[in-house]
Amino acid sequence: MDKKKKQQTFAVHGGQQRSAFMETSEALYLTSGYVYDKAAEAAAAFRGDNEHYIYSRFSNPTVTMFEEKMAGIGGSEACWATATGMAAVFASLMCQLRAGQRVVASRTLFGSCDYIIRMLLPRFGIESVLVDGDDRDGWQQAFAQGVDVVFLETPSNPTLGIIDMDWVCGEAHKHGACVIVDNVFATPVLQNPFQWGADIVVYSATKHIDGQGRCLGGAVLGTKAFCQDVLKPFIRNTGPSLSPFNAWVLLKGLETLRLRVMKQSESALAVARYLEESPMVARVFYPYLESHPQHGLAVKQMSAGGTMISFELVDGTQEKAFAFLDSLTCFRISNNLGDSRSLAVHPATTTHHRLTVEERAAAGISEHLVRLSVGLEDEQDILADVAQALAGVASTARMV
Ligand SMILES: Cc1ncc(COP(=O)(O)O)c(C=O)c1O
Repeated sequence: MDKKKKQQTFAVHGGQQRSAFMETSEALYLTSGYVYDKAAEAAAAFRGDNEHYIYSRFSNPTVTMFEEKMAGIGGSEACWATATGMAAVFASLMCQLRAGQRVVASRTLFGSCDYIIRMLLPRFGIESVLVDGDDRDGWQQAFAQGVDVVFLETPSNPTLGIIDMDWVCGEAHKHGACVIVDNVFATPVLQNPFQWGADIVVYSATKHIDGQGRCLGGAVLGTKAFCQDVLKPFIRNTGPSLSPFNAWVLLKGLETLRLRVMKQSESALAVARYLEESPMVARVFYPYLESHPQHGLAVKQMSAGGTMISFELVDGTQEKAFAFLDSLTCFRISNNLGDSRSLAVHPATTTHHRLTVEERAAAGISEHLVRLSVGLEDEQDILADVAQALAGVASTARMV
């Protein structure tokens, strides 16, 4: 189907390759390998002279359909699917970096992305530097010392900081760097980083793309040349490939991605506004609140505020944050996000526990920060749950 069709139409019909049985929905090709009628056909396939599938570590028809649909929805020429979001992040970096090169990244990153950039890359002789996402001087100073790849996350996990992609991509390109954007929080529905100059966009399909808590997956989006010539050899030979079964589940997730993300974002805005009004809450981090320091930029880059909120309680302590989490009934405590079920977590002791107290403070992650992933339940039930959990914290505090 024509990629020029509207995103939602492409999400339903795009990328499908029907078999001779003319099935309605995408077929699941649960096969590890493929057969050839003649030895010469196999030889031609390995030379790249025909389109014959070779082995499902390289490619698989169900995975191809997922990649085609992802590329169409995400606004890229091509996509390569991976087993997890972290495999997508790691492959997008390692397929192009070599010893002696330098990566500049935004400071507030998902814990495992931070681990790859700060801990793993230096082991291979790749220097890495972190910069506050909104610090233009910091970016420029870091770029002035040389940069090959820029990695950034906007909105950031978990503090919902917004980075000006147009500006960072423009500056990075002056230095010849490749910019990779982790678009997990915004999803391709709310934000298209290619529009602002990104070269590569990575997704954890585990999050909103499945969005129903069933399977892991990831995707790297970029040009045909990058995906074919740089990324494909890395994935083909190192093996972080997406299982056809998971691709088949994710294909169904893509059909409803927009509807879910828009509805969840609507409820999230209502929750963020409610939290902001509560005398129990000191600070709310949500891009579409007027009080967000980069509200204008968020409105420019994103078509809604997203499904994620973070907040801090008044006179916050870890105990109070735990008391809030333990009082929730509709929200479940889980480090996953972007799910149809509302989920809540304490980042300092879970997703970002590996950072030192000082590193967490530098990234703005306090010991009493709570992160919410707003789901698809009825908005009134979600709000009521937040209200009763805040009341629970208030009564616990009174008893102490
Ligand atoms: C911003 C971000 N990037 C990447 C990932 C990694 O995704 P996965 O768990 O599918 O490996 C996550 C997971 O939470 C994330 O929040």
